Amino acid sequence: MSSIKLNNGEKIPSLGFGTWQLKPMGETYNAVKSALDVGYRHIDTAHIYLNEGSVGKAIKDSGINRNEIYVATKLWNWDHKKAEKAYDKSLKKLKLDYVDLYLIHYPVTKTRIGAWKTLEKMYSEKKIKSIGVSNFTVRHLEELMSKTSIIPAINQVEFHPFLFQKELLDFCKKHGIVLEAYSPLAHGKKLGDETLSAIAQSHNKSVPQVMIRWSLQHGNVVIPKSKNPDRIKQNIDVFDFELSENEMSLIDSLNENLHTCWNPEKTA
Ligand SMILES: NC(=O)c1ccc[n+]([C@@H]2O[C@H](COP(=O)([O-])OP(=O)(O)OC[C@H]3O[C@@H](n4cnc5c(N)ncnc54)[C@H](OP(=O)(O)O)[C@@H]3O)[C@@H](O)[C@H]2O)c1
Repeated sequence: MSSIKLNNGEKIPSLGFGTWQLKPMGETYNAVKSALDVGYRHIDTAHIYLNEGSVGKAIKDSGINRNEIYVATKLWNWDHKKAEKAYDKSLKKLKLDYVDLYLIHYPVTKTRIGAWKTLEKMYSEKKIKSIGVSNFTVRHLEELMSKTSIIPAINQVEFHPFLFQKELLDFCKKHGIVLEAYSPLAHGKKLGDETLSAIAQSHNKSVPQVMIRWSLQHGNVVIPKSKNPDRIKQNIDVFDFELSENEMSLIDSLNENLHTCWNPEKTA
């Protein structure tokens, strides 16, 4: 598994396993167990997914050393003013004594700066390995960087061929922020695309594999989700082929500003 160095020197596995919409208990437990079995070493969860408990149990039962698994979770919107308590609750559910990455889930207008300052404090106290944000646009990042002292290690945003956020990607690269691509498969809505199908066929790969590979080649961390063991395995089998410059450009050109999740541009 390849990894990417963050701006604080920590390393993050470039491919992770997303857990949004995996039901708590059996579904999450089995999917995370399958992911760990086939080699994923990075799990992305969040307080609001209501499945941190099952993620933690799957990690524990896997028998894999804690320090070999990168675990990320997120601070939910209504907890911005009590981030330390929310973090402790997440740790308790995950049955862990730290997470590798704690993200502000969404740039809630009035509370995001205060929440970030609390995360900075927790990071300085070495309670968290790295801190970052999610759903931040260039405008939100500029504001954060002008009012606080630590530059986020990560910005987790929706990013796939149909939402190729080039300006945001360039901004993040310029400031040493790693872009983490969520919904890298456009939430499964575009798997029949003809251009992607043709490219996939020429590499003897599937459309999801091409979408993941495209994002990795842009330098992103990528976190596809699946509840199906075969697809979980398929989505990590992306390190034995390479898209050409021409194919990368062709895929870049599919952009249609399709937000399948939130559109944080609308948030002041
Ligand atoms: N920070 C945020 O605000 C935010 C927002 C959204 C997502 N996320 C994170 O990003 C992760 C991934 O995003 P996502 O869950 O929205 O969507 P995604 O990974 O883009 O797509 C998941 C969908 O694609 C299907 N799928 C997965 N692999 C497939 C394959 N090889 N062939 C065919 N279909 C496949 C899945 O169905 P099956 O499960 O049935 O296979 C599911 O319907 C989330 O789980 C979460 O961790 C974060």
